[in-house]
Amino acid sequence: MGIERGDREFCVSSSFKSSGQVSYELHDDVAVMTVNNAPVNALSLAIRQDLQANIERFDSDASAKAAVIVGAGKVFIAGADIREFKLPAIEPHLPDVIDRIEECTKPVIAAIHGVALGGGLEVALGCHFRVGVKGAKVGLPEVHLGIIPGAGGTQRLPRLAGYEKALEMIPSGAPIGTSDAKAAGILDHVSEESDAVAAGLAFARSVIDEGTPMRRCSQLVPAAVDAKMFEAAKLAVAKRARGQMSPVVGVEAVEVASQTSFAEGMEKEREMFMALKNSAQHRALSHAFFSDRALGKLPEIEGVAPRQLKAIGVIGGGTMGAGIATSALMNGLSVTLIERDEEALGRAKATIAANIGGAVKKGKLSADQEVRIFEEALKLSTDYGSLSNADLVIEAVFEDIEVKKQVFKQLDAVCKAGAVLATNTSYLDVDAIAAVTERPEDVIGLHFFSPAHIMKLLEVVVAEKTAPDVIATGFQLGKIMRKVAVRAGVCDGFIGNRILASYRTAADAIVMDGSTPFDVDEVMLEFGFAMGPYAVADLAGLDIGWATRKRKAPTLAPNERFFTFPDRLCEQGWFGQKTGKGFYIYENGARKGVPNPTVFEVLAEERKQKKITEQNLSKEQILERYMAAMVNEAAKVVEEGIALRPLDVDMTLIYGYGFPRWRGGPMQYADEVGLEKILNNIREYAREDDYFWQPAKLLEELVESGRTFADLNAGKGSQSATKT
Ligand code: 3HC
Ligand code: NAI
Repeated sequence: MGIERGDREFCVSSSFKSSGQVSYELHDDVAVMTVNNAPVNALSLAIRQDLQANIERFDSDASAKAAVIVGAGKVFIAGADIREFKLPAIEPHLPDVIDRIEECTKPVIAAIHGVALGGGLEVALGCHFRVGVKGAKVGLPEVHLGIIPGAGGTQRLPRLAGYEKALEMIPSGAPIGTSDAKAAGILDHVSEESDAVAAGLAFARSVIDEGTPMRRCSQLVPAAVDAKMFEAAKLAVAKRARGQMSPVVGVEAVEVASQTSFAEGMEKEREMFMALKNSAQHRALSHAFFSDRALGKLPEIEGVAPRQLKAIGVIGGGTMGAGIATSALMNGLSVTLIERDEEALGRAKATIAANIGGAVKKGKLSADQEVRIFEEALKLSTDYGSLSNADLVIEAVFEDIEVKKQVFKQLDAVCKAGAVLATNTSYLDVDAIAAVTERPEDVIGLHFFSPAHIMKLLEVVVAEKTAPDVIATGFQLGKIMRKVAVRAGVCDGFIGNRILASYRTAADAIVMDGSTPFDVDEVMLEFGFAMGPYAVADLAGLDIGWATRKRKAPTLAPNERFFTFPDRLCEQGWFGQKTGKGFYIYENGARKGVPNPTVFEVLAEERKQKKITEQNLSKEQILERYMAAMVNEAAKVVEEGIALRPLDVDMTLIYGYGFPRWRGGPMQYADEVGLEKILNNIREYAREDDYFWQPAKLLEELVESGRTFADLNAGKGSQSATKT
């Protein structure tokens, strides 16, 4: 049966009612099967059915001597359909479809453009030949979703490309380019053609004409290998994975290929894949995958065009200003940086030069780009008038509302109409800053994290009068600077620092009541954070917290606990890493410290003075308290609309505060633990301290209605349960 589509014959299988998402076209004696499932040709049920049916058709089609599989649109195939993972698996399963491709009696060629990822590469590995066009990439990124390749990738890849390559690609999940893939034997040919169909047809022609023998990966004999290689790989991968299971299981699955037959290896791969697919880590990483993509999907900017963004201004060239300028320059923007005097400008320029020089050394920028940045893109000035052409200005002066108001008055006077005026304040009221200008609709918070040219997070702080296209411009800047932009509302500390303040307070209480900072750090390291809160405090500088406590002391509520033990360290001039001593001691400029014994004395003295009876909290109890404080404050942040959805909190904590991605962020973690359990804990802690431990209304109402944070992400009920 054939129907006309354009000038080509478009065939559908007579035995199977195709959804038409995989087409079958004959080009002389070569069948071209095009997978068409926008946007990334994920291998949904319909695609698997169609692919299987078309393979059957090809095998029995006497007029076809070879087949080429290609993807429509921008990519070959990006893998299994992740959205289907939550549903019961329906036949045909992907490994069976791929086996069927491999079993074909005539050659099947994968012609890859864009990317072949996960199940997409596994389909290609099931083919008898693989051709890549220029710019194509192949990879098995499943570990980033908390799983391993589950359609033969762990068994076919080592047979085809060797154990070393498989151990490089599977646990890292990183894709490789065509030359690397060709060298590893994954691609048989890299075509000069940019069109995958043309590349595939040309290769098919040569296979038919030359009678090239078909190669089935499953039948290749794996090279002999020393088992020690796997042990070493497991240790190295486990160290990097910091608690994430999938990369280690990836190594184990490759090891299986060295120990068993292909058929047995496939069974083992399936078992490992299914175990991970049912794990909390997979749920967390899938949540992170979809949350990444949901962050910028905001009703208020849907269809709203951002304003022009070519030239930006930065006020203040200190820690943050120099980092922000670096990031902008590295991403092709022109920057005018304003400082108070020539000396400060010189310091700022030196910092930017060091940052850019570092990027050149790491191969992130070329030497030519470096020259262009300093000759053309960067301008330094003490005159606010030089900002008259800036499309957007980011203020990064001292954290003092009066200084910031003064700066914004000057900006209002010199900036062109339509320029976006942004503040990088960490805590101050963006509405109050906007109010000193005649154009509050152009004012926004753009809260970068230190070091600003490296850290991924950007909080886009929307003030009361901020215009939608200014919000869109904030997100656009994030995109240009390759940041992860999260929408936040105005409050003390926005999303991240507000939640941080809360769990830091809980940590101080835990320490004051009998644990040590080192206990807390150890628990959080084991949880998956790269550093514990006290090691972080040492890194940031203990003087920051000291100054905050001095400001806060006169404003304390009568029943508010206040923790001054870190002051005892600061009084001795110990401000953390930069002074060589803090909670830890850093010998000879070491970045990793050993516990400072004075901390034990300080704590003993403080507890004695405050008549505190020491509790002996277990690791689990420390974790529960710490996480309860984080989740409770996060729930308040969502309840008040400071974060639009729980997922915005999760991504903020992951990208800005080192929360382990494989746990999905605090809200996802809370759903896994159970909201009721967390709420009960909070009520229990409130018996000791009912000032700090006030349960969030949102948490109470979710528990009452049997809902979760995930329900809110999915739009089941408004983000504030109080409004439902
Ligand atoms: N399944 C379902 N949806 C997918 C998907 C997949 N495998 N990959 C991407 N999408 C969706 C995204 O969620 C997004 O949806 P939205 O528009 O509704 O937000 C849309 O496709 C476009 O994706 P991106 O925004 O990421 O588009 P980009 O052009 O920036 O990137 C990409 C394209 C490089 C293919 C990127 O989407 C990607 O890395 N995808 C995931 C690849 C992956 O992890 N594959 C392995 C899947 S698991 C597997 O195959 C298991 C197997 O071994 C059995
Ligand atoms: P910093 O003290 O390192 O730098 C501030 C710079 O602003 C100084 O170089 C100073 O000379 C300059 N400056 C002051 N008044 C000025 C004026 N009127 N005109 C031009 N320049 C002026 O401070 P830092 O750490 O860079 O912080 C800047 C802002 O960024 C603050 O609002 C801070 O809260 C915020 N921030 C800081 C982070 C950090 O980790 N340091 C992280 C995120 C935000």
